[in-house]
Amino acid sequence: MEGEFTGKEVYKQKFCPQNYLNTYLSFESEDSLNYGNAFTTVLDKLHKAFTKDGIRGDTLIDIGSGPSIHHLLSACESFKEIIVSDFLEQNREEVKKWLKKDSETFDWAPVLKYVCQLEGDRERWMEKEEKLRKAIKQVLKCDVTLANPFDPVVVHPADCVLSTYCIEAACKDLSIYRSAMKNLFSLVKPGGRLILVVALGATFYMVGPNKFSSLYLTPEVVRDVLKGAGFDSVSSEVVGFTFPPGICDAYDSLFVVARKPN
Ligand SMILES: C[S@@+](CC[C@H](N)C(=O)[O-])C[C@H]1O[C@@H](n2cnc3c(N)ncnc32)[C@H](O)[C@@H]1O
Repeated sequence: MEGEFTGKEVYKQKFCPQNYLNTYLSFESEDSLNYGNAFTTVLDKLHKAFTKDGIRGDTLIDIGSGPSIHHLLSACESFKEIIVSDFLEQNREEVKKWLKKDSETFDWAPVLKYVCQLEGDRERWMEKEEKLRKAIKQVLKCDVTLANPFDPVVVHPADCVLSTYCIEAACKDLSIYRSAMKNLFSLVKPGGRLILVVALGATFYMVGPNKFSSLYLTPEVVRDVLKGAGFDSVSSEVVGFTFPPGICDAYDSLFVVARKPN
């Protein structure tokens, strides 16, 4: 692991939502979405999971959403209710701004059009934006290192728990990562799914000028941890992309679908 673990106080002081969105999710044009950007690869996999693979239900909980909503654009077609969550107030505020249609909000139009294109009708992107706004019922504080990540709020287990690039950022070592996965296990209904997108082999990621640590993970370790937490039928796929040099040293990302036994 390169450098120090980025603790909660550093996150509070140095994680700037606008810098994060501009670094990872700002597309100058729709065309730039088609050149193998990391997040479009993830959007493709989520589209497949929530449509072709039929992962659906009443409720989905997104853990460590950050200031982002892109990863929920396919989910809102398959889940009636979505709970968004993050450790940081500034990230939750950014999502709330988008929910309220604040004029200062991030422009998600290129990403919306990309996902609508995947679904077969690029022109319905404004309708989808409204559909996602309506599906998001709560924006909650969460901390994956707590046995109840929403403490003191109690959230009923969901049909699906989703988390993209969060748990490796939140955990200092493998033992904390193992207990965080057990915490997520408790949020999934029996027979429900956990979907994870994991930065592989990463030691850091940048948000503007600030460096944040990442727990170094391999596909074997992630699968072993999920089995240890109680999930069965863990399927995973290395998706095949790298971040631009200097932004994040992940060698690839892992897309994981794990099932909680009945
Ligand atoms: C790399 S960002 C990923 C954001 C978003 N899921 C995405 O894919 O764009 C990592 C997120 O983890 C959140 N985070 C860090 N520590 C956390 C913790 N202990 N519990 C929950 N979230 C945490 C950060 O606030 C940040 O939003």
